[in-house]
Amino acid sequence: HTWGWLGSTEQFGRISELNEFIEIPKSQLQDEKYACFAQAAHCFIYAENSKKVFNIYHPRATILMQLRYDGYFGFPGGLIDANEDIVNAVNREMAEEINLNTDLHSVTNDDHVISHWSEKKKLVLHFYKLKVTMAELIEIEKRALLAQDYGSEVLGTVRIPLYTLGDHYRGFPVFLKHNFIGCSREQLIAALSILNIMKPEEIKLALSANSINI
Ligand code: GTP
Ligand code: MN
Ligand code: MN
Ligand code: MN
Ligand code: MN
Ligand code: MN
Repeated sequence: HTWGWLGSTEQFGRISELNEFIEIPKSQLQDEKYACFAQAAHCFIYAENSKKVFNIYHPRATILMQLRYDGYFGFPGGLIDANEDIVNAVNREMAEEINLNTDLHSVTNDDHVISHWSEKKKLVLHFYKLKVTMAELIEIEKRALLAQDYGSEVLGTVRIPLYTLGDHYRGFPVFLKHNFIGCSREQLIAALSILNIMKPEEIKLALSANSINI
């Protein structure tokens, strides 16, 4: 495989400290060390969106995540079967989990964003992007209710609030307080920066926001 390398999460020093997942430099993706690891691939589906929310908040973009059967938030995608190509796996899982019409929308090797590995979990997690128009994203949301895995693996597809309210806490900072599966929180943060949806300083501010009394 040839994977693009679009950026680095080094600027977010705390990412690697938060859990056991470490970013894999592109040069090491083929290392034998990972041969015995399970691999999975997930996808960041997003659309540019400048229509203000409540006529106040700039949405920045619309990004889809899902509430999983285990209570965690994560991205659509899943485990790569034996001998299965990584992009085949992520496209297949998106068809199963959100009923994505892969004739219209599918990821390619060029859509690779970042990969992480965990020594402890013996797991490699690949992350891809799928950019669509806002009209297409709305169709994707509607179709998701008819997915094979809806109601079992997937309990709902949601949009992420990327704006922050005047109290400097509600909105994106609160969303980041949820529980995220694997390194999906790190993947979200990395993709926002790599895809120029949010500036690193803004992400750092949201990560460090403290709770308020509401
Ligand atoms: P089954 O079809 O039940 O096998 O599940 P799946 O193939 O859909 O697998 P799943 O999406 O649960 O992902 C497999 C592994 O990746 C698990 O170990 C999860 O902990 C992890 N994982 C799940 N979702 C995400 C995600 O969005 N990002 C990251 N980084 N890891 C995830
Ligand atoms: Mn109301
Ligand atoms: Mn699945
Ligand atoms: Mn899955
Ligand atoms: Mn699966
Ligand atoms: Mn499954």
